[in-house]
Amino acid sequence: MAQELEGLSAVILAGGKGTRMKSRLPKVLHPVLGEPMIFHSLRAVEHAGIPPERTIVVVGHEAEAVRKAIEARGPYRFAEQPEPLGTGHALMVADSVLQTLAQDLTGGLKNILVLYGDNVLLRPQTLASLINLHLKASPLVTLASAETPDPSGYGRVIRQPETGRFQAIVEQVDLLPEQVSIKEFNAGVYVFQADWALASLPRLKKSPKGEYYLTDLPGFAIEDQPDSVETVLVDAEDVLGINDRVQLAEVSAILRQRILRRWMLAGVTVTDPSSTYISAESIIGPDTVIEPNTHLKGACKIGSDCVIGPNSILSNIQTGDRVNVLASVLEDSVLEDEVAIGPFSRVRPGCYLEKDVRMGNFAEVSRSRVGTGTRQGHFSFLGDATVGPNVNVGAGTITANYDGVNKNKTIIGSHVFLGCDTILRAPVSVGDEAKTGAGSVVTKDVQAGTTVVGIPARLIKRKKAEETTGTGEGTSAG
Ligand code: UD1
Ligand code: CA
Repeated sequence: MAQELEGLSAVILAGGKGTRMKSRLPKVLHPVLGEPMIFHSLRAVEHAGIPPERTIVVVGHEAEAVRKAIEARGPYRFAEQPEPLGTGHALMVADSVLQTLAQDLTGGLKNILVLYGDNVLLRPQTLASLINLHLKASPLVTLASAETPDPSGYGRVIRQPETGRFQAIVEQVDLLPEQVSIKEFNAGVYVFQADWALASLPRLKKSPKGEYYLTDLPGFAIEDQPDSVETVLVDAEDVLGINDRVQLAEVSAILRQRILRRWMLAGVTVTDPSSTYISAESIIGPDTVIEPNTHLKGACKIGSDCVIGPNSILSNIQTGDRVNVLASVLEDSVLEDEVAIGPFSRVRPGCYLEKDVRMGNFAEVSRSRVGTGTRQGHFSFLGDATVGPNVNVGAGTITANYDGVNKNKTIIGSHVFLGCDTILRAPVSVGDEAKTGAGSVVTKDVQAGTTVVGIPARLIKRKKAEETTGTGEGTSAG
């Protein structure tokens, strides 16, 4: 199977205008659960065993924007369709890229999977069933069909009345009156025998509207060789396309429910599925609870026994186990076990919070590493900082990391006590077990075990063993 898949490449058609979206943004780039629509098609193809190197995307309308977005996902190949002359024409323009690709494949190009860029709900297993049948039966064409009570708008699958064998696909506009009631429609997913398909493309004729229909190819196959088309009946939901923004919302809702269901069945509690959004690329450990109004965006990897939400937005966050996040916004960061965030905190990109860090009540941290057991309990900001373990970050503490030109680093040792309203003017460092008095403005490095107070902060205690003077109290951050 794996070997046979090597001769298989995919062509994804995304050259159409998407007129019915009424948008400046190309249709395939409209976000579905936070990702460009076409990424969902690309993922299905990849999970079915065809890597980006063997996947060609046909771009036309807003080609550059579409290409740029897709290139960010992987090393895909592209074919340009300068004018949207139909789905058949879209495959024609991919011909030369397919020839190049064929030379790169040791066993040559054997088969071509063709699907559309708006095929968001297509499951890898649906694609796999099509591919498997094609590889097993070796017809000229294998295509997916589906049934729905109202298939108007779709091309219909026409079968021989006596045998039920596939005959042709007829587009809606060309249906004979007696064919209108046919419920089986062309889903728009095909596997073609490569040599035959590429040789047959020149036979496509322009429709009265000036389009070349890819859907004429299966009919040619039957003319060339009886019974040379296999069909796979798939779930109609899997092949719902997106043509306008109503369908965009409908398809997004189905995808969202599918993802939520998958995680619930895997042992995750989703308190309120109707207000929970989990991206396709996110992973959640068992016995984690996702509370209402929570979004997991990008590629989040959440551990077990966590409570995330309510009212939280996490993008590309990786957590250990037993992590709590309440009413907070977190991006592009890593949280070890037992970290607790919120309420009302912001973890900006580039943070690494070690085990049992606690931050809440208007705490913000950016591009910083925070050591285990450190508490940042009240409104304060740590930016470009390396903070050791068991530090008390008093209320109002600020790392003044920006001098108007550069961002500068603050280094804080272990067991440091930062009094309320300490301002650390970076670059600056505070040694282990040092203390700062309330309201200190620290402009020079503070040595380990010493206490500094005032503006600018000056030394008042050399050794840590002595009692703190009345200036040093901060609110406990715990
Ligand atoms: C197509 C099928 C129809 C099928 C339906 C399933 C044809 C002629 N008809 O109709 O039988 O039931 O899909 O959803 O294929 N595209 C290009 N270049 C073009 C035109 C289209 O790349 O010149 C791309 C579009 O971006 C889109 C896809 O091909 O991703 C399908 O095009 P669309 O116009 O939506 O086809 P349908 O009319 O829906
Ligand atoms: Ca369509």
